[in-house]
Amino acid sequence: KAMNRELEKLVLTAPSSVQENVRKEFEDFKELFDRYLRETGPSIDWDKIKLLPDDAVKMYGELPGPNENDVKSLLDQLVVMKLNGGLGTGMGCQGPKSVITVKNELTFLDMNVQQIEYLNNKYGTDVPLVLMNSFNTDADTQKVVNKYGNVNVSIFTFNQSRFPRINRESLLPMAIGFGDENTEGWYPPGHGDIYKSFYNSGLLEIFIKAGKKYVFVSNIDNMGATVDLNILSFLLNNKVKAPEFVMEVTDKTRADIKGGTLVEYEGKLRLLEIAQVPKEHVDEFKSIRKFKIFNTNNLWASLDGIKRTIEEKTLHMEIIVNPKTLDNGINVIQLETAVGAAIKSFEGAVGINVPRRRFLPVKTTSDLLVIMSNLYSIKTGSLEMNPKRSFPSVPLCKLGSQFTKVKEFLRRFASIPDILELDHLTVSGDVTFGKNVSLKTSNY
Ligand code: UTP
Repeated sequence: KAMNRELEKLVLTAPSSVQENVRKEFEDFKELFDRYLRETGPSIDWDKIKLLPDDAVKMYGELPGPNENDVKSLLDQLVVMKLNGGLGTGMGCQGPKSVITVKNELTFLDMNVQQIEYLNNKYGTDVPLVLMNSFNTDADTQKVVNKYGNVNVSIFTFNQSRFPRINRESLLPMAIGFGDENTEGWYPPGHGDIYKSFYNSGLLEIFIKAGKKYVFVSNIDNMGATVDLNILSFLLNNKVKAPEFVMEVTDKTRADIKGGTLVEYEGKLRLLEIAQVPKEHVDEFKSIRKFKIFNTNNLWASLDGIKRTIEEKTLHMEIIVNPKTLDNGINVIQLETAVGAAIKSFEGAVGINVPRRRFLPVKTTSDLLVIMSNLYSIKTGSLEMNPKRSFPSVPLCKLGSQFTKVKEFLRRFASIPDILELDHLTVSGDVTFGKNVSLKTSNY
């Protein structure tokens, strides 16, 4: 009740023209908060977890792929969406992560736009690119989007929700007013927010009416998340009832212990994240023998399916409680959801085990080093591995803490080294690299 009272006070601090929208957004927040109060104990019962049945994950290599003549009509039914709510603070940058320069003077956003433009030009289609922004990224993203005015891609944006952080002691909202953007009172509630925000924006309905059938959603920092025609064809040329949801998974290595995995739970596919795993089972979760695959967050969802689950109120994602300490020392929690957790709410959901090249995230400057190097070149906005690499694995690079910020990272390399024959690299301490350096792993 106290929370409701405080939320209503917050609504009244908004300009009257947007109060109704804020109230609607808060309804979703209240639902999440209510669930948080009610749901005590772990969200899964470990003994009920089953390993996947054989047909739950298809092998990418076995998908037949489309006829060249069908490609245009397949693309006509596709919407591409990038999750663009995150900031570049992890790599010491201000503003949206998507505007960091990655390679050949191109940003994440530039490369994504080029990829879609190439498809639109080649096949005479109009695949739209949709960006889900957050209040943290919207203004800066809009400025950049304006620069693509002459590009053959229709770009749409919508904003995800803005929820008040919760004081861990009092369980009351931290935000003090609608306009207090600098007080750390607000947060974007994770990428699981995409379904409702997409629906509420009105864009979902517009795309359905325009004949679009599926949305391909991925992290904007995953350089491997290009439109895949084999998966699209699998969805749209499916003779039996097409799955409403596909999660691209890939084989786990010992370096991927953090990612969520797919399991069977109560007869449905479910995303199992490390945060949900009871302490005594964490080692088992990390083992690559038992849980062999992980979620790349490249997801394909039926637009009708999204609409149905929202309207029938059957869309369900586990709550991720994210504790934080603000600059002023106050402990807060933010209630979040993850986009892939909705897999259990869709009909006929399957996983597709894709090659590693579809998962190339840039989370750190170590990832950036690999991407900027001669290991990759850019073709029509997509990364291509250098054919001279004798083994298709990506080197395992760990640059020390001095390299964390992009600016520092760039200062420490006079030019990006040749890493064609590198298998692993660990740098620690105050290191700088000169020009024209080759890094090789001996016995490689
Ligand atoms: P993150 O980079 O935050 O995290 O988001 P992750 O990959 O789930 O987990 P880590 O980095 O391994 O801890 C992935 C994508 O989702 C977007 C980000 O912009 C990024 O493209 N995102 C995240 C949102 O759009 N909204 C959010 O509230 C959170």
